[in-house]
Amino acid sequence: MGSHVQGAKSLLAANWKMNPASASDAADLVRAILEPYKAHADHVQLAICPPYPWLLGVAELIENTGVELGAQDCYWEKAGAFTGEVSAAMLTGWCQWVIVGHSERRAYFHETDEDVARKAAAGIAEGLQVILCVGELDEHYTAGQTEPVVGGQVRAGLSQLAADDSPHLVIAYEPVWAIGTGKNAEPEHAYKTMRLIRHTVGEVIGQGAARKVRVLYGGSVNAANIESYVELPLCDGCLVGGASLKADEFSKMIATVAEVYGHIPSTT
Ligand code: PGA
Repeated sequence: MGSHVQGAKSLLAANWKMNPASASDAADLVRAILEPYKAHADHVQLAICPPYPWLLGVAELIENTGVELGAQDCYWEKAGAFTGEVSAAMLTGWCQWVIVGHSERRAYFHETDEDVARKAAAGIAEGLQVILCVGELDEHYTAGQTEPVVGGQVRAGLSQLAADDSPHLVIAYEPVWAIGTGKNAEPEHAYKTMRLIRHTVGEVIGQGAARKVRVLYGGSVNAANIESYVELPLCDGCLVGGASLKADEFSKMIATVAEVYGHIPSTT
């Protein structure tokens, strides 16, 4: 069934955002997820993306567990007078992943498509796997403008990448109206938009390279609805916010994804 990227496991990326509030709570959350993850590591690739100050502590806890580590943002310059910023180059010792272009960064911190493109390029140039987030606002969705808006964000986000960057790129489709609202997208809407994303990536970097780009869904994914996304043929996994902070719920989600992926043969 479908076109999951060949040989890939399903990817679950946990975007903790600015949570939890203490290092010890972060450690407790990781420990609570590690044990249940072990049983499903064959089918699920797990990337935890904590706030910067918790990265080192989480890195120690996940050593030799197969769990991967990601940051939630990066800056494109390697080093210099950029107060408050953290460069992609600084993350490489600890992280395998970096999220760029999350809608909260775009909305609250005024990141432009051009900034996002530079971050994506810097992340890949430094050897990180990049999760590039795209998604339409509620007003676009209700006006039927999802495809042009998301297509434009994908084109812009890829503008500084080359075809051979594709194995290091993941695109997360996250409708902004679905993030943190409990109002997850209909799987049919997610499917159509993911198909558009793949099509657009193919136009920009070529169909062959586009097949190596993984596509995730994100936006109010929880234990009750995750199956409806990961069973979609074009969906390579999910980016999870709120539910990734609840160890029991997130563990159930890992088990559900493993169950679905254990039954879907990878084809391209
Ligand atoms: P949510 O967040 O799962 O809480 O909706 C998703 C995200 O922002 O990546």
